[in-house]
Amino acid sequence: MKILGICHDVLICSAAVVVDGRVTAAIPEERLDRQKQSRVFPNLAIQRCLEMSGLKLTDIDEIAVAWNPAIDMETIPSGYLTARRWRTEHLSQVPARFMQLLGTRAEDSFTVQGGARSCPPITYLNHYHAHIGNALMACPHEEVAVLVMDGRAEKQTSLLAVARGASVEKLCEVDFPHSLGLFYGTVTQFLGFKADSDEWKVMALAAFAEEDNAFIAPLRELIRVHDDGSFELALEYFSFFNFFERRMYSERFVQRFGQPRARNGALTQRDYKLAAAMQVVFEETVTKIATILHRRTGLQHLAVSGGCFMNSVFNGKITEVTPFETCSLSSCPDDSGTSVGAALFLHAQRAAERAAERGEGAAPPREVVRHSYWGPEFSDEACLDVARRYRLPNVEVVEDPSARAAQDLAEGRILGWFQGRMEFGQRALGNRSILLDPRRKDGKDVVNAAVKFREGFRPFAPAILAERVGEWFACPPETRVPFMERVLLFKKERLEQVPAVTHADGTGRLQTVERETAPRFHALIEAFEARTGVPIVLNTSFNLNGEPIVCAPEDAIRTFYTCALDVLYLGNVRIAK
Ligand SMILES: [Fe+2]
Repeated sequence: MKILGICHDVLICSAAVVVDGRVTAAIPEERLDRQKQSRVFPNLAIQRCLEMSGLKLTDIDEIAVAWNPAIDMETIPSGYLTARRWRTEHLSQVPARFMQLLGTRAEDSFTVQGGARSCPPITYLNHYHAHIGNALMACPHEEVAVLVMDGRAEKQTSLLAVARGASVEKLCEVDFPHSLGLFYGTVTQFLGFKADSDEWKVMALAAFAEEDNAFIAPLRELIRVHDDGSFELALEYFSFFNFFERRMYSERFVQRFGQPRARNGALTQRDYKLAAAMQVVFEETVTKIATILHRRTGLQHLAVSGGCFMNSVFNGKITEVTPFETCSLSSCPDDSGTSVGAALFLHAQRAAERAAERGEGAAPPREVVRHSYWGPEFSDEACLDVARRYRLPNVEVVEDPSARAAQDLAEGRILGWFQGRMEFGQRALGNRSILLDPRRKDGKDVVNAAVKFREGFRPFAPAILAERVGEWFACPPETRVPFMERVLLFKKERLEQVPAVTHADGTGRLQTVERETAPRFHALIEAFEARTGVPIVLNTSFNLNGEPIVCAPEDAIRTFYTCALDVLYLGNVRIAK
């Protein structure tokens, strides 16, 4: 069965193709139209995913959309149901009226046949079901507790559930405007950053706060968790639910916490402390909710999704601070990953339906995703062809790009590293990466000043050989963090060895690199270790600040020549300045 998943009109739109339960291609639209956080309909991504899967749109059996507008129909103001602006609004007005006449609410999903017979049937899924599909993709367990939390879906902002195979039992839902994601977004905006985008900057700032933090107690009062796992915000402090106002905090919030920081204003200890207080309250809240979920389900395994789980600092602690033994996360728990999640969720539903029709009981178990290299790929020959076509100077084909790149790194060069299929998700995982020697004391400043042009407080990530993780981080040796989705503490004695990839609080947002999924990247770090004794490189995404990660060799070349990178590897093609 071939399913095309899409998410659109969200922060990062994307498309994915799933064939018989396996992701064959997935790509965010921004990588192709080169507009950061592109919200347009993912036309280019759809076409590219089909190409990468060797399919035409008419080969697709079903289309899965990661949002169910029928749920929105429940709350359409009656004025909109009477007067249409475009005739196409009848597509929503008529069913909305009939739902009212029947006195029924929307189902979690509904299927329509596209306007033309050749269009595959389109199933609109509850946004949180798409997140569940996303949460389960890296989870090996058939019965699992699920927690989804983000800014908002059609109307939900939080969901506690149990997934058993393809079935979902909802335990508790929280509706807008009570939203932990938007609470964090409010503080993000108050601190002069962009809500729904820069939350991770606030997370990074938290490490600079001094100990005695008088903001924790008052911020804690703004959210209350109930015994069933639901929660509510003290709404008088917020105004994000007033869509006519861009300000997310109310006057009362200002009275309590002081004047908001101006965009690009100096960062003060007040700002660091408020950021730290937000992180504390966030962690306390999710911990309480997850603990309740554990009590209500009695399950040992948790799978999570939603923008709240882009919080890699908290992700690193989940199994320590909650009773769950394991926690599964994908490379893309934010909305960009709901295209993949929607396609996988629909596949699981259809597989279960077919198994039931055949009287087989359960559908075959889902395949566990171990990597996210689902994007376009360019062969060594194609890379060389582009370099020649552009008549680039200092081009050479190298026999062993991993060994040569390790030499470049050890000799102090900053590298653009472009290999294999592009990774999906907001973090580069060694196929579209910028790399540097992590031992450099000036490493953060060098990359910031030369390449990323971003705030100096933001840390860079260590990519470490998976088999070495227990020697460098305070974790069991079998720990795997394939998607840079968790922050862990470095072992104290290691901190001085890799100053370029340690944060102010002694942590690192690591990626454990495995030979099977990223062979050239793994070989590079191995060769770097052979030269230096350090099995780690600094890995940051291959893009300039404000631009999407590079996708094609042309993007990489353009980026290479507009910043201070020293060497670019396109496959086995080495280009020096
Ligand atoms: Fe979402």
